Amino acid sequence: MQHSYDTIRAVRWEDDHLVLLDQRRLPGEEVDLHCHTATDAAGAIRDMVVRGAPAIGITAAYAVVLSVRTWLNAGEDWRGPLIKDIQQLRQARPTAVNLFWALDRMQATLSDTDDSPDGVALAEAQRIHHEDILANHQMGDQGAAFIQPGSGVLTHCNTGSLATGGYGTALGVIRSAYAEKKLTRIYADETRPWLQGARLTAWELLRDGIPVDLIVEGAAAALMCTGQVDWVIVGADRVAANGDVANKIGTYALAVLARQHGVRFMVVAPSSTVDLNVASGEDIPIEIRSKEEVLRCSAQTVAAEGAGAWNPVFDVTPADLIDVLVTERGAVESPDRDVVLAMMQSD
Ligand code: MRU
Repeated sequence: MQHSYDTIRAVRWEDDHLVLLDQRRLPGEEVDLHCHTATDAAGAIRDMVVRGAPAIGITAAYAVVLSVRTWLNAGEDWRGPLIKDIQQLRQARPTAVNLFWALDRMQATLSDTDDSPDGVALAEAQRIHHEDILANHQMGDQGAAFIQPGSGVLTHCNTGSLATGGYGTALGVIRSAYAEKKLTRIYADETRPWLQGARLTAWELLRDGIPVDLIVEGAAAALMCTGQVDWVIVGADRVAANGDVANKIGTYALAVLARQHGVRFMVVAPSSTVDLNVASGEDIPIEIRSKEEVLRCSAQTVAAEGAGAWNPVFDVTPADLIDVLVTERGAVESPDRDVVLAMMQSD
């Protein structure tokens, strides 16, 4: 199927380096950040220039290309320094498994390459990037098939072109369902503290001509009570083997509210986000970020002086609150260990 509403690319390889749209500065400014080394790219992941699980993985893949080029140009044996760069990239953020998946894949590709390792690495990174966009288009179509015409949806965080190679996971389903004229209302949580919903989801939907209404997280239950929302559609940073899902803090609350109000709950993630090495959500490492992110809003201090803060940036939604899990390998209802394993073993 031809996909419309798909104009934004936040991660690009240009000539000899990686270019990232600096997401910290949206929607006010559209500024690119140019990464010439793996250290530049690791810093960009850590500091949220680029964020969203698949986009983090793609950035890490290109970072490996930068590393190989750097050490080849320096006339060194590139393999030793590459391992150090990969270790540094692994430390950038802990929860999105796409980071580790992409680094493992790049490392495996380079393991028996001696000729033109920079070219081999670039081809593999571009393959990872291209496959992600393709997976998003496939998931968009599969997820949209569940949605009835005249539906309202609520989404959380940013799962769109900015968070992926392009098109998006949950936002890809919303793009596809909107293109099929099935959606009457699209709501997005503002998503404190980084405001990915208000700053990024609203920006990219409007840029592609899709209308969106923002709510504060606290309005979700009231919104569901009005009957205007038929689906909550979210992405994932890691899906455990039993179908538990780690995603942006607040996702679990939405899943509980959705079940209470008879609203269906869909998780959309490529198979690169599924981690069969993690048995359940309990074993997923949850990133805790600085308390300053809670105590301030942008540069402005909003909390009473002396207040502390707890800032976990992901939570875990148990599989039994998930109605539909969509990957590019297929869409499954009521995911559990057997269903997730069967899906991952299919082509
Ligand atoms: O902290 P972030 O902005 O990287 O968190 C992103 C999310 O939680 C997304 O929902 C998730 O990565 C899925 S993106 C396709």
